[in-house]
Amino acid sequence: MKYQNLFKPIKIRDLELKNRVVFPAMATNLIADGGYVTDKLIDYHVARAEGGNGLNITEAASVHAPSAPRNFLNISDDKFVPGLKKFTDAIHAAGGKACIQLWQGGIVVAGGRPECNDHSTQRYASGGACYSRRVQRGYKGCGQGFR
Ligand SMILES: Cc1cc2nc3c(=O)[nH]c(=O)nc-3n(C[C@H](O)[C@H](O)[C@H](O)COP(=O)(O)O)c2cc1C
Repeated sequence: MKYQNLFKPIKIRDLELKNRVVFPAMATNLIADGGYVTDKLIDYHVARAEGGNGLNITEAASVHAPSAPRNFLNISDDKFVPGLKKFTDAIHAAGGKACIQLWQGGIVVAGGRPECNDHSTQRYASGGACYSRRVQRGYKGCGQGFR
């Protein structure tokens, strides 16, 4: 067999995966308004865990509310924890493991919106750094327009 190790378990520090089949982060559009986990999102990932994935990477989750698009999973506040816990528990119950992709949009989410463009800063050089510099100057975050 070509990929002899694919279906063998692997231990990564304290995490043991039953195989090396990894489902990559993929935005599903199954998120509730405001960034909450839905039962449909859980069912989608449980089906893949039951199918045999060793690890499910859940889609991009915003760590920063002002740059969080409306339909992105959100992990920027404790209010999201109960839904995320239910999500993780369901993947575990289906025999899988869960990994979350952390995402910070910063100023990049303002792309193409003239009111968000300020050519005196390095616009796309680094979302986080650029956003911090603008906040220091009183900028409130154009990402709010995406909510
Ligand atoms: C519908 C869709 C949504 C995706 N969403 C994300 C995402 O949220 N985060 C991410 O890092 N990659 C995302 N990707 C990229 C995938 O994780 C993956 O890297 C890509 O599909 C290439 O996979 P492959 O190398 O196995 O062909 C998405 C891909 C698709 C098709």
